[in-house]
Amino acid sequence: MNIRASQLDPNPPPIGPLAPATTATRTLTVGLVGPGKVGRALLAQLRDSGATLLRELGLDLRLRVVADSRHMWLDHDNATLDPHAPGTQVWRPSSLSYVGACLAGAPHPVLIDCSASDAVASHYPAWLARGIHVITPNKLAISGPAERWRAIRAAMRSSGAQLRYEATVGAGLPVVQTLRDLLDTGDELVAVEGLFSGTLAWLFNGYDGHEPFSARILKACELGYTEPDPRADLGGMDVARKLVILAREAGMDLSLDDVRVQSLVPASLAHVDRETFMQNLDTLDAPLAARHACAAAQGCVLRHVGRLDSNGRARVGLIELPASHPFAHAHLSDNIVQFHTRRYADNPLRIQGPGAGPEVTAAGVFTDLLRVAAGVRA
Ligand SMILES: NC(=O)c1ccc[n+]([C@@H]2O[C@H](COP(=O)([O-])OP(=O)(O)OC[C@H]3O[C@@H](n4cnc5c(N)ncnc54)[C@H](OP(=O)(O)O)[C@@H]3O)[C@@H](O)[C@H]2O)c1
Repeated sequence: MNIRASQLDPNPPPIGPLAPATTATRTLTVGLVGPGKVGRALLAQLRDSGATLLRELGLDLRLRVVADSRHMWLDHDNATLDPHAPGTQVWRPSSLSYVGACLAGAPHPVLIDCSASDAVASHYPAWLARGIHVITPNKLAISGPAERWRAIRAAMRSSGAQLRYEATVGAGLPVVQTLRDLLDTGDELVAVEGLFSGTLAWLFNGYDGHEPFSARILKACELGYTEPDPRADLGGMDVARKLVILAREAGMDLSLDDVRVQSLVPASLAHVDRETFMQNLDTLDAPLAARHACAAAQGCVLRHVGRLDSNGRARVGLIELPASHPFAHAHLSDNIVQFHTRRYADNPLRIQGPGAGPEVTAAGVFTDLLRVAAGVRA
């Protein structure tokens, strides 16, 4: 059922009665923007864990609002706030300002952005300034324009609200938190490097120089490993964004323009439409086969690596690595991230595992939610 915009009460009604409270019960009021693949997995995880969290930790996670780009579902309209539940769910036209208004002033408000939208990211400074914690797997705000990043940080400082974004780098892998913990305990970052793209890791892990590289790309598309337009993966910008996120986490003033990115997409195919690109995919074959043969002759393999050092030098691209290197033995589409620090000098601290997929990404977001909850008083 659709409720028209004109029927929207400009003042959202107060949150309903809280769970039977003990002195130790902590209530967080949660709004979710983007019930897509990750958002939907998160909703399922929240439903599955709700009773246990309340019983074991005294944590009452109240889902108040869910919004996609066109619809908005509110808790006082629906008993279950699940846009994908069978049966008719009452919905209203989506309004990000209204989502903010629903949360502001409620007990410990948290907005979870599971979209990939810059329009949503542009609301972070206002939400944070109103004391709403923001959690997201969306890279756009944290790796976006420096001016917006500064506005976000200023809003966090003024209100005390947190922005958490663990899932932006390694999905469910604890990459951002590990860096934070290293720095907070007085270690010094020398460099961080890794296979930050599961798609590119998969493409090169199984590339033997005989099967054309274009055939591997087509197989990756079939398996759903690539973005709809594989240039989004091959261009390397997603990895560049991850380096910017880690650099900013480490207090560096880095922007996307500062990252040296070597795209795997030939310049002649960078700006054509997707169909033309796919028809000319074999343009990639000969140069990559030659590079593979050259690497193999020296006992090396090709890997797509992102690297950031403590001087803020950041680069993304294909490099030759000895066959004994840990990156040469990654499993399927695993991400690997290794931190070289003053303490981890001889042998880097290494994190490895699946770095994408709705379930693990949602779990990364959920972990951030629990970290926010850990800092909240009853
Ligand atoms: N999938 C993964 O494995 C993975 C891994 C790491 C990080 N991430 C990140 O997680 C985020 C979500 O990924 P996904 O795979 O779940 O994407 P998705 O399935 O495309 O879902 C995106 C959701 O965002 C909503 N949305 C888009 N624009 C919006 C707007 N302006 N206002 C409100 N809602 C809006 C979409 O609603 P409509 O349907 O109405 O457009 C949809 O519900 C992305 O930032 C992605 O980069 C994903």
